[in-house]
Amino acid sequence: MLYNNIINAANISVEDVAQRLKQDQIIALPTETVYGLAACADSDTAVERIYVAKNRPYYNPLIIHMCNIAMVESYCIIDELSYYLMEHFWPGPLTLVLPLKKQHQLSHKVTSGLNTIAVRIPRGLFRDVIEKCNRPIAAPSANKSGSISPTSALDVAESLKDNVSLIVDGGICEVGLESTIIKLEGERLRILRPGGVTQEELAAKLLLFNAKTLGVPILLCGEGPNKAIEAPGMLSSHYAPSSLLRLNAQELKDREVLLAFAQQSCYNINKASYVLNLSERGDLREAAANLFSYLKRLDQYKARAIAVQPIPMHGLGVAINDRLARAAAPRC
Ligand code: TXA
Ligand code: MG
Repeated sequence: MLYNNIINAANISVEDVAQRLKQDQIIALPTETVYGLAACADSDTAVERIYVAKNRPYYNPLIIHMCNIAMVESYCIIDELSYYLMEHFWPGPLTLVLPLKKQHQLSHKVTSGLNTIAVRIPRGLFRDVIEKCNRPIAAPSANKSGSISPTSALDVAESLKDNVSLIVDGGICEVGLESTIIKLEGERLRILRPGGVTQEELAAKLLLFNAKTLGVPILLCGEGPNKAIEAPGMLSSHYAPSSLLRLNAQELKDREVLLAFAQQSCYNINKASYVLNLSERGDLREAAANLFSYLKRLDQYKARAIAVQPIPMHGLGVAINDRLARAAAPRC
C-alpha cells in the first residue's frame, strides 16, 4: 500500500519541519532508537494531538527531546552525576529522569502532573530540527499505544494511518530499541527501562566517575528499596503483536513460526511455516536492530504462536528480553 503522508528526509528541509512543529502540527521523525511522534512540548494543543493520535492514556508522560545541555538546564535541576552521564552518552539513546524547575513553560499534559521529566538529546536529523525550533520537543514512539515501536517510516504509517499528516522517512533506525531510561535515587542509579545504552556501558562510566567508592551502584527496575518506582508507561503488557509469543523455545510446535537467534538448535524446526533469525552470527546489536521489524513480519503469518529462541541476558540482550517479555505478557 502507498502512503501519501510519507516524505523522504532528502525532500524536506529542517526549516520546513521546524516551522510546521511551531504551528502545532505533530510530525513523525526518525531517531537513532525508533521513530518518534514529535510536537512542541510547551504547547497544550500540540501535545494533546499526540495523545489523541496514539490513543495514549494521559497518565503516561512523554519523553522530552532537547538539542543541548543549556536547554536542559533551563527546565531541569541537574546534579553532578547527571552532567557527567549527559556528557558521555549524549547525543544518544539515554534518557534521564530529572527534577523540573518550578517556573517552566512545559505543557502540563506532557508531564502528566509529575514534578520530573524524562529528557534526552537524540542524534541526527531530529536534533537539528529541535535546534531550528529552539523549543523542547515531546516525542513518544510513533505507534498506537501498546503496540510495537516503529523502526521505519512504513511501520509508522501502518500503525498511525491518517492520524499523522507527515512522516519524515530517514530510513531504518540504527539501534532499533527505545532509549534506556534512568533515574538517580540518592547515591544509586535505577534503570527504569533497559534500552539502547547497556548496563555494562553505564557501569563502566560510573566506575570512572567515582573510582574511590568503586562507582555508583546500579539497580534494575523492580530491585531493592523503592522497587515500585517505574516509568508510568511500563505496563507489563506492551509492545504486543497480535500473535501469542512463546519464549525460550527449544522445540517447535505445530503451526508455530520461529524467531531464532544465532546457531541454536531447535527440535522439530521442519514444522516451522516461517523462520527469521535475529542475528545468525549471534550479534546482540544486530538482533536489537531487527527485533521489532521481525516481530511484525512474523505476526503477519497469524500462526498459533511466535516461538522465540533464548536470547542471552547481557548487553543489549537485557533490553531485547524485556521487550519480548512484555510482548508475551497476558494482554490487559
Ligand atoms: O527512544 C526513545 O526513548 C523513544 C524515542 C522517540 O526518543 N521514545 C519513547 O517514548 O520510547 P515513549 O513515550 O514510547 O516512552 C517513554 C517512557 C514511558 O514509559 C513513560 O512512562 C516514561 O518514559 N516517562 C516519561 N516521563 C517520565 C518521568 N517523569 N518519570 C518516569 N518515567 C517517565
Ligand atoms: Mg512507546
